[in-house]
Amino acid sequence: FSYCTLYIDSREISRYDFTKPCTYTGRKGDTIMKILFYGAKDYDQQFFDKLAPEYPGITFKFIEANLYEETASLAKGYDGICAFVNADISTAVVKELHIQGVRLILMRCAGYNNVDLKAAAHYGIKVLRVPGYSPEAVAEHAMALVLTANRHTHKAYIKCRENNFALNGLMGVNLYKKTAGIVGTGKIGLAMARICRGFGMRVIAYDLYPNKELDFLEYVSLDALLSTSDLISLHCPLTEETHHLINEDSISKMKDGVILVNTSRGGLIKTEDLIAGIRDHKFFAVGLDVYEEESELVYEDMSERILQSSTIQRLLSFPNVAMTSHQGFFTEEALTNIAETTLQNAADFRDGKELKNQVTI
Ligand code: NAI
Repeated sequence: FSYCTLYIDSREISRYDFTKPCTYTGRKGDTIMKILFYGAKDYDQQFFDKLAPEYPGITFKFIEANLYEETASLAKGYDGICAFVNADISTAVVKELHIQGVRLILMRCAGYNNVDLKAAAHYGIKVLRVPGYSPEAVAEHAMALVLTANRHTHKAYIKCRENNFALNGLMGVNLYKKTAGIVGTGKIGLAMARICRGFGMRVIAYDLYPNKELDFLEYVSLDALLSTSDLISLHCPLTEETHHLINEDSISKMKDGVILVNTSRGGLIKTEDLIAGIRDHKFFAVGLDVYEEESELVYEDMSERILQSSTIQRLLSFPNVAMTSHQGFFTEEALTNIAETTLQNAADFRDGKELKNQVTI
């Protein structure tokens, strides 16, 4: 046989193709390091293949199958694995990777909330990530969601294609002179703040660690941000503290007619409370690149399937909600930077150099 297919509850989750060749770019005498690349898409392979010749001896086997408990054993014989935001790297998976001899987890993304760092440390597996591959890519997508949800460009496009040139249902609001509230002013939040400033907005922000050097925005408390912002954009990481930061209570503090955008992590918003808020007409528009329950859907073509998640269906049913599939990072520049840093992380590990992108508990 040439492939095996993983089914969960009769649904095809992913396919492991034995016929795809391993990308090897080594010279004789190089220390070979074998990495199994889970959840590979053609675009991933394209950007890694392009840069691989610059990292002799780092070899990749690209497989479509994502990393779950059921697929962790495929890593037998590999020094490391490479995974993305939608992989399951919980305790049992880390244990299985350890049993298979894996010593390195290369996250080809910034977030690592899906990795059990404690288990990795326990088994002596190093976890490395790509801390900032293109903050602008995500921030520009956040603004694209604001504009789409606010000005209904997703609907206008379809209407025009159907020769429907009427404007009903397409009215938006100006952003100029309105207040943008940025939650988390790290790399992406700062890029988003600059974009909002460029739109002529007043920018306020909330962060646990305010950046004193930013003179074009004003730091306020979270409550003040919630109650005065016309646009709220989330850019803090998902932690125990930020889990369900946006809930019934915080939504009740927001201005009526607020625009809410989340390009950070789905778990920041309690979806049931968001849905209740949308039904209460609290929001003018909502833009979501990330959402709870996304991990089994994102990056897969589910157009022929009957989706089991009613939450996502309900969100999609609202006329003022625009959703994308965790694609904020998806630009040529970002994919180049992801491939470059991941390859460098692997080379640093192999060569015993300082692991500057290591994630620890
Ligand atoms: P960063 O680490 O540069 O910035 C995060 C900021 O959030 C920091 O300033 C930090 O002090 C702040 N923060 C931490 N806890 C907070 C809290 N409880 N309340 C308020 N602020 C808090 O991270 P970066 O690169 O800006 O990324 C932000 C998030 O964006 C990532 O954690 C990731 O979840 C998400 N992301 C989404 C992508 C997408 O494709 N949609 C791609 C890349 C990242």
